[in-house]
Amino acid sequence: DGERLIDPFGREIEYLRVSVTDRCDFRCVYCMSEHMTFLPKRDLLSLEELHRLCTAFVRHGVKKLRITGGEPLVRKNIMWLFRALGQHLESGRLRELTLTTNGSQLEKYAGDLKATGVERINVSLDTIDPDKFKTITRWGDLSTVMRGLDAAEKAGIKIKINVVALKDVNEGEIPDLVRFAHARGADVTLIETMPLGDVGEDRTAQYLPLSIVRSQLMDHFTLQDTPYRTGGPARYVTVKETGGRLGFITPLTHNFCESCNRVRLTCTGTLFMCLGQNDAADLRTPLRASADDTLLDAAISDAIARKPKGHDFVIDRRTKKPSVARHMSVTGG
Ligand code: GTP
Ligand code: 5AD
Ligand code: SF4
Repeated sequence: DGERLIDPFGREIEYLRVSVTDRCDFRCVYCMSEHMTFLPKRDLLSLEELHRLCTAFVRHGVKKLRITGGEPLVRKNIMWLFRALGQHLESGRLRELTLTTNGSQLEKYAGDLKATGVERINVSLDTIDPDKFKTITRWGDLSTVMRGLDAAEKAGIKIKINVVALKDVNEGEIPDLVRFAHARGADVTLIETMPLGDVGEDRTAQYLPLSIVRSQLMDHFTLQDTPYRTGGPARYVTVKETGGRLGFITPLTHNFCESCNRVRLTCTGTLFMCLGQNDAADLRTPLRASADDTLLDAAISDAIARKPKGHDFVIDRRTKKPSVARHMSVTGG
């Protein structure tokens, strides 16, 4: 077995997020600009290579794998990867295999996902108003996502709905989104917009601190503390009126870096030790240099030894550009 991954601040890395493609069939206004240039397909790692990388991390004690993108379900033959990784669940080495998706392909894949061992998924849904949905995603169709949610539910998959809180856009709709999710038996997490990459809009205009949302929600609901945790960054409450769970992801108002347990792998084999920092490690070279994992293991250990203490989300006052130029869709959130 490989060595466990413990960083210089004593944090154990048990959670790997894997972006399998930077592409997406939507262009959410806080995530991408309308005209995005994606990576040439020849630069992508093969699914076999992604599997080998994930397996190396599992040997090093990673217990939770989250497949992300872009939109992970637009990657060709992606079910092959889920099936291959699902074997680590069967062997008991992996605790959870999951994904974060925009839901556009869920109707097609929900049953297959469940069969590979996926028990719980996160679906990004920032509004339940069809017109607003089109505005936020730039062309997405809400009814497709709704059918995806139905399919996941029918397949017996637990759903968590991710809502990015957007000033003036879905701000007034958040209590309805909470009711909507809880009525379906889904959890919901609210997320503060993070300034990652140029989206062709003023980031500061999108930003809505969750401290404000929380106090607005308290006019509608009774929020009760709960110790429930998933190993992700959200801090949860229970909504007394609905009985459902509501999470807050607050990188800007309440930094949670101290308990960070994760690193992120891109579809080109680059490892980012923090979502909000630029430092990265190349794992593709050691992966391709040899069929045995000695070099790869050493590169992984070196990378973890460089994990920074925390993120550095700032927007340059003069240029209005974020300090991290990379888009969220490259690192998968
Ligand atoms: P659970 O397993 O359900 O807890 O999921 P998760 O919150 O870990 O994953 P998800 O893909 O649903 O991410 C929700 C939001 O949390 C996204 O906006 C991510 O970018 C953000 N997020 C996840 N991990 C980190 C982190 O380490 N730092 C920051 N700043 N944001 C993160
Ligand atoms: N800030 C916060 N959350 C974001 N997401 C995408 N871009 C951003 C951003 N700039 C969310 C998506 C998805 C999750 C992986 O991250 O909506 O739910
Ligand atoms: Fe696509 Fe998700 Fe980014 Fe929206 S937030 S453009 S659905 S990757």
